[in-house]
Amino acid sequence: MVYYIRFLKTPKIQKLKGGSLSVSALICIATDLGDAFLAQDVDLLVTLTLKDSEKVLHQEPLSWKAGKRELPILLGPFHPQLSQHIIILSVSAADGRKPRSPSLDSLLGNPGVPLVISGWSAPFGGPGSLVAEKLVERRFGPKDCLNLRIWEETGNSIARHIWDAAIASVIYLQQISAGDSAVKAPLLETLLQPERSAPLRVIELGSGCGIVGIALAEMLSQCSVLLTDLPEAEEIVTQNIAVAKPTHSSNLEYRVLDWDEPLTDDLCNNSVDLILVSDCTYNADSLPALVSVLGRLVQTSSDAVILVALKRRHESEVVFFDLMQSSGLFNLHHDSMQLPSQHDQFDQIEFYCYGNKTRHP
Ligand SMILES: C[S@@+](CC[C@H](N)C(=O)[O-])C[C@H]1O[C@@H](n2cnc3c(N)ncnc32)[C@H](O)[C@@H]1O
Repeated sequence: MVYYIRFLKTPKIQKLKGGSLSVSALICIATDLGDAFLAQDVDLLVTLTLKDSEKVLHQEPLSWKAGKRELPILLGPFHPQLSQHIIILSVSAADGRKPRSPSLDSLLGNPGVPLVISGWSAPFGGPGSLVAEKLVERRFGPKDCLNLRIWEETGNSIARHIWDAAIASVIYLQQISAGDSAVKAPLLETLLQPERSAPLRVIELGSGCGIVGIALAEMLSQCSVLLTDLPEAEEIVTQNIAVAKPTHSSNLEYRVLDWDEPLTDDLCNNSVDLILVSDCTYNADSLPALVSVLGRLVQTSSDAVILVALKRRHESEVVFFDLMQSSGLFNLHHDSMQLPSQHDQFDQIEFYCYGNKTRHP
């Protein structure tokens, strides 16, 4: 599993005796679930940048040690003028012995997914608050490729975080849409091809922060994505939609869709081509409702392909496969991807394409 830089206390500017300033924060490096801390030493790089120009104001190394549960950051003293600027604090893993520049985490090319996913704070200082909002931004992709930026909340909400299967889904969809010959997923290749005669209609269930659907709308033209989740995801996902950069002919929307509620008529009547589900099978209790929604959607859209990405977290999740089969949804293709884990281990993310067998013989 990959590990995420998390702000336990978001950065703040403090006045020191004599008028100079310091910037402090408290971080940890933990899994998506927040249930385990990184148990290996990692060199980190802490960077203060100006919000608008991204000019680096200050940079210093820091070490995360195996066995730690938190790591204080204290930068300074700085000139009092610092508080006039709106700044951002970022923490990234240094690459080898030399600290890495705070560039974007490369998900989509060499050197692949990093073990530690960097975090950028919300802006703070200037005329606004001296304390950063309880948010963390993830930035993915080299600048000449997909330049994906997604906000997460710093608390422990399930819906307002990015989960590992979402990261793998973004890479998988990007590989397919880029025609990567190493990935063989014929159904998805047809759907994601750049030259489509009609727009691609996509719905994502349990979208959380919206990273997968947003990435798709940023990588494909003529792609219309409806992100859905419970009400608690609405604020963060709409914030992410507001800063997203879908291609000029693509669009993003959000609406609440609770699997336990009946589907509204418009959702039942509007057909879709692709249904995305990432890291939504961890809770066996919610699987009957999830599968029932998938079945309803495929009733209307008999050609739709469902892409389910999952990381097995509990044995009870296997019931998902039985429920899908009982609903007449057939596994048409499956695949997997490895994400890095600590001590040079790997973690498996599984992908399953489901659909109506008669329509996809
Ligand atoms: C583990 S998170 C995954 C979020 C996102 N797909 C990702 O991979 O980053 C599971 C998501 O399913 C959503 N969820 C759980 N039960 C739900 C329900 N009954 N109706 C709609 N969404 C639900 C949660 O709110 C949460 O956003």
